[in-house]
Amino acid sequence: MSQSSSIKIAPSILSADFANFGAEIRAIEDQGADWVHVDVMDGHFVPNLTFGPQLCKAIRPHIKTVMDVHLMIAPVDPYIGAFAEAGADVITAHLEAGAHTHRTLQAIRATGARAGLALNPGTPVEAAVPLLDLCDLICVMTVNPGFGGQKFIHSQINQIARLRELIGDRPITIQVDGGVDPDTAPLVAAAGADVLVAGSAVFRGGSAGSPGPYGDNIRAIRAAAQGGRIAA
Ligand code: DX5
Ligand code: ZN
Repeated sequence: MSQSSSIKIAPSILSADFANFGAEIRAIEDQGADWVHVDVMDGHFVPNLTFGPQLCKAIRPHIKTVMDVHLMIAPVDPYIGAFAEAGADVITAHLEAGAHTHRTLQAIRATGARAGLALNPGTPVEAAVPLLDLCDLICVMTVNPGFGGQKFIHSQINQIARLRELIGDRPITIQVDGGVDPDTAPLVAAAGADVLVAGSAVFRGGSAGSPGPYGDNIRAIRAAAQGGRIAA
């Protein structure tokens, strides 16, 4: 979970076939995915609606790796228990989702899940400093949350590097989410990212019945990221 471990790739099932989640998850894991990233959206905190704890519970038996649940919802606290009971290994809430993020992170940890804190592109990473000791993961958004397939926001590279400095020796994973592909992966890896979320860049060209492209895409992102980290 520290920067010395190898880069992890977390495909976002937001770009999967919604009629076939079980097979899609088995396909990406067979093709080398390290984590499965689940984007929960409420049509209120972000302008899109996806799925809730029941879907997470339904897909959990298909996940052999890590169920990484990214909550883009407000309020968050009333739903933490349901996502933990659904089997989330990591539960990430947004700093911008409410006034009491400190309490939210405590509540996530109290369930036994790893606590993640997500930061929108408009939020300075310094805002996470008072919360660092409550975080197992910090997710730096490199798009405005809500949709897959958006353009990577390059100014976030400096924020990732700054966050890496602020974290120091703490055992906190830096995750980067949005617009990650083989062109942007080396940039975020060089800046200090550990876990790369990728939706459209993983699922393009393949399907559960023809999963080879998923593997090609995952390997291409991983190789580019590792190259970026070595060069840094
Ligand atoms: C955006 C989501 C992302 C998204 C990434 O709101 O949090 O996880 O699915 O999709 P791509 O990789 O297509 O930008
Ligand atoms: Zn996400």
